Amino acid sequence: MRPPGFTPGAYWGAMNATPTDTIVVRNSGALGGTVDVPGAKNSVLKLMATTILTDGTFELTNVPDIVDVAIMGELLAAIGVEMIRPEPGTLLLTNSGDITPVAPYELVEKIRASINVLGPLLTRCGEVRLSMPGGDDFGSRPIDMHVSGLEDMGAQFKFSHGYLEARCERLHGADIIFDFPSVGATENLLTAAVFADGRTTIDNAAREPEITDLCNFLVAMGADISGIGTSKLTVVGVERDALRPVRHHTVPDRIQAATYLAAAAVSQGELDVRGIRPTDMTMLLDRFTDMGLELTDIDDGLHVRAPERLRSIDIATLPYPGIATDYKPLIITMLAVADGVGIVTENLYPGRFRYVEELQRLGADVTTTGHHAVVRGVPRLSGAPVKAHDIRAGAAMVVAGLAAEGETTISGVHHIDRGYDDLVGRLRAVGAGIERC
Ligand code: EPU
Repeated sequence: MRPPGFTPGAYWGAMNATPTDTIVVRNSGALGGTVDVPGAKNSVLKLMATTILTDGTFELTNVPDIVDVAIMGELLAAIGVEMIRPEPGTLLLTNSGDITPVAPYELVEKIRASINVLGPLLTRCGEVRLSMPGGDDFGSRPIDMHVSGLEDMGAQFKFSHGYLEARCERLHGADIIFDFPSVGATENLLTAAVFADGRTTIDNAAREPEITDLCNFLVAMGADISGIGTSKLTVVGVERDALRPVRHHTVPDRIQAATYLAAAAVSQGELDVRGIRPTDMTMLLDRFTDMGLELTDIDDGLHVRAPERLRSIDIATLPYPGIATDYKPLIITMLAVADGVGIVTENLYPGRFRYVEELQRLGADVTTTGHHAVVRGVPRLSGAPVKAHDIRAGAAMVVAGLAAEGETTISGVHHIDRGYDDLVGRLRAVGAGIERC
């Protein structure tokens, strides 16, 4: 049963978006003013999944108003954790203890982060049946590291009819070394290890700020985790009754923050971007400075001032603390109007260049070969209809529209709604000629 008040369509305006919605951007000159950035999608979805671990009511604040949160809420409701949103930015999640360890296809296929219920369900229930998560528009996204890590901890897996089924007695501690610091695999093993018998170490773990947020959440709940923020995490399993529900403030969204910095950059604007943690994006900010942005620390964020024309740089994506792959569509958009030639190398998702065709429609001079894009800056782009192929590519199209003469119409807006909390309203408030149709 859903508690009174849980009607996602009513709470999340964006849930009502249809695939035919568009965003129209008209070049409107320099942006100016203040943008407040909400909490991170890629943290809050994992915090939500982690509430499966123990009974009681959790309170999450700084929660972005995005479609992926609503979908994760639906998935958790199917599992047995009910969600309400008493006010914007706050979620109450109530785990009554009646957990069904099944994640059905209809919900899993909508949201990649549904894989994050695997660890909590398995360690809590000893069994789980999860529809296999699909790929993304930017390529296949395997889960072999999640599976082999959990097997090392004693789980047995079976795959049939598009579902993954896992069983275990109590999981046991294990020493796990990742070939690659996968964000999702680190999160699933962390949550699974919380109730495992003994000590689990995860070496070459991902150390994104969102992982640190999850660790801090788990520790507040009563988990025993050390090495937080480093690439070697150690979890000593606790008994089930050692955990308790908590209140937690979600870490700020560094990708949304970068989006507003990029919007200021291509519009020769000046913005205060608040509610962010510049220390979570140090390497990106260094590179933005190399491109000519003036960045000054202000209370709770950054003041950004763009130069008359950005300078080109070469850049490569890497796991944190490197330049995140999710920043890349924004960076390529900035390079598209910068002075000079920039080479961008993608090291995480080789197929993540599809939006380049859309930028070309706007007059960008970008060529791609394998993992690389060569971007020759042009003085300005020219508006045209373009498509958002995924969340970050969609945001980049909006930013590109700010740098284009005339009108740019972006379709596939439902992708943007998955990860951006009122991108249109926030940009309009700082002077962008932008509307949703
Ligand atoms: N990989 C494997 N096997 C695995 C796991 C990952 O080969 O078992 C590979 C993937 O195929 C990929 C790379 O490792 O090539 C990175 O995958 P990772 O597990 O680190 O990423 P993820 O957890 O699936 C999260 C974010 C992505 C972000 C990546 C990288 C969420 C919900 N998603 O995905 O965010 O790009 O980390 O930082 O947290 C987005 O927000 O738009 C988005 C795509």
